[in-house]
Amino acid sequence: MKGIILAGGAGSRLHPLTKVTSKQLLPVYDKPMIYYPMETLIEGGIKEILVISDPHNIGNFVRLLGSGKDFGIKISYEVQDKPEGIAQAFIIGENFIGDDNVTLILGDNLFVGDGDFLRDAIMTFNSGGRVFAKQVKDPNRYGVVEFDSKKNVISIEEKPANPKSDFAVTGLYIYDNSVVTKAKNLKPSARGELEITDINNLYLKAGNLDVKIYENYWLDTGTFDSLLEAGNKIYQLRKK
Ligand code: G1P
Repeated sequence: MKGIILAGGAGSRLHPLTKVTSKQLLPVYDKPMIYYPMETLIEGGIKEILVISDPHNIGNFVRLLGSGKDFGIKISYEVQDKPEGIAQAFIIGENFIGDDNVTLILGDNLFVGDGDFLRDAIMTFNSGGRVFAKQVKDPNRYGVVEFDSKKNVISIEEKPANPKSDFAVTGLYIYDNSVVTKAKNLKPSARGELEITDINNLYLKAGNLDVKIYENYWLDTGTFDSLLEAGNKIYQLRKK
């Protein structure tokens, strides 16, 4: 299993914090944000990680994380020239992925307080796709899961105006090697991006998407409030 951390995006909702640096380098209590998703991958037993960022910020990630030796892993780096979607990570990372399976985590996603659940989900993965849904107050910010009356997942919609449930798809995605071909065959969405939600729907249509409900603490730190909330949560856990 290979790991990819996607740490791109303009972070425009966090201006001026992100005017001169990347969102994923901002502090979350006592560490730069990217440390948390990186630890999620490391706890999942992943030893080779590719960090993808934009041309302006990639050098700072190299300065921060280096070869990965300090963390007991190997880190490589690639540039995403333009913010053309999360699914583009599999095209940029094609050589890095090689013939392996891959876990992608978004650099602004924090999964806190339940290492075992995610570690098992990564370690027991065989084939298809596996994603994690979390009940949230503001589902229209996310990919949203639609269930039928028997609680089977029937579709995932990206940032719907009228969400069909309050279960958001989190930014942790585990896929078999076919994700590379799937990504290459995607067409950009109306907002000009290769959508991770389209990848998930391809696995879903093929009957190969395992949607696990995530009960623990999860945050996408894209807003001032969620960034502060994440810092406070980590602070509380450290002081316990
Ligand atoms: C992205 C995905 C969305 C997912 C979210 C999780 O949204 O497009 O499906 O629910 O990450 O953090 P973005 O953070 O790019 O708005």
